[in-house]
Amino acid sequence: MSASVLARAARDVRGLVVSNEAVAPDAWVLRYEETDPLPPLLYEPGEFIQVSAWSVDPLLRRPMSVLDCGVRDGRAWASFLYQRTGRGTKILGSLRAGDRVRALGPLGNRFALPARDGVSLVVAGGVGVAPFLLLTRRLVEKGREVLVLLGARDAARLYLKEALEREGARVRCATEKGDLGEKGLVTRLLEQEIDARGPRGIARVYACGPEPMLRAVHAIARARGVEGEASLERRMACGFGVCFTCVCKIVDPATGQAHNERTCLEGPVVDFAALPLESW
Ligand SMILES: Cc1cc2nc3c(=O)[nH]c(=O)nc-3n(C[C@H](O)[C@H](O)[C@H](O)COP(=O)(O)OP(=O)(O)OC[C@H]3O[C@@H](n4cnc5c(N)ncnc54)[C@H](O)[C@@H]3O)c2cc1C
Ligand code: FES
Repeated sequence: MSASVLARAARDVRGLVVSNEAVAPDAWVLRYEETDPLPPLLYEPGEFIQVSAWSVDPLLRRPMSVLDCGVRDGRAWASFLYQRTGRGTKILGSLRAGDRVRALGPLGNRFALPARDGVSLVVAGGVGVAPFLLLTRRLVEKGREVLVLLGARDAARLYLKEALEREGARVRCATEKGDLGEKGLVTRLLEQEIDARGPRGIARVYACGPEPMLRAVHAIARARGVEGEASLERRMACGFGVCFTCVCKIVDPATGQAHNERTCLEGPVVDFAALPLESW
């Protein structure tokens, strides 16, 4: 369906919270260590997990992009960046070191690496920046230039700026309040970069964030003939293809025909060429 790399087999990991710390006034990073005596599980850029710290109430796990992962003393660990928006994430917010978590993953597909030369432009809005730490690391390992365009309401909500810079990305910021970087929307930075470098200077655009931002990024890139993909954060109940809560409209680039796809299976990463220009 798209250039993005397909999903691989998931497993239900039991973990213990190592830390759960605020990284901004309204965002936290929870890191857990696997307790299962299984080979360590490492995640690829773009994959997500279905997290819970409860068994019955609430019923559903919550989808989170994998922020980072690794192995320490033979044990795998992973982390995610989250906001406390509702019931599940408020429970996650109450967890302390040593508390139990479950994480079903890896789920979903992965970002595709650029097929041509040029800068990789990463466009991130709010907590949509989460999948881009691993992606930046992978691109830099491959010798790619990465420019992250980070958008937020104000400077305090520009999550992970320094962490992305430590991974080797250059970061440009846009804030609606204008207290750091360009005043306005992050999509203005995207237009500036494509116009300054020319479409042939851009290897690929990667986007994740609020849906209006994704629509704008998609429209800008398509209008200028730049390839890319978006990570869609739909409501997901199961996360592995059985409930159909996550369907979105996808276009087959070969035929132009639109059909419904489950974004937990065929996404969350979707090629721009497979996203309809109107609604999806
Ligand atoms: C692939 C993906 C990656 C994401 N990554 C991140 C991330 O890195 N950081 C972050 O902060 N947020 C992320 N989100 C969004 C995050 O999952 C939601 O903010 C979170 O689920 C909210 O949970 P809540 O309990 O706080 O909110 P609530 O509003 O209480 O619950 C919303 C969640 O409940 C479930 N749900 C409730 N009712 C229904 C229903 N009728 N049908 C289907 N599902 C229902 C869904 O899991 C839904 O996401 C991601 C979402 C997706 C799809
Ligand atoms: S979340 Fe259940 S099918 Fe996608």
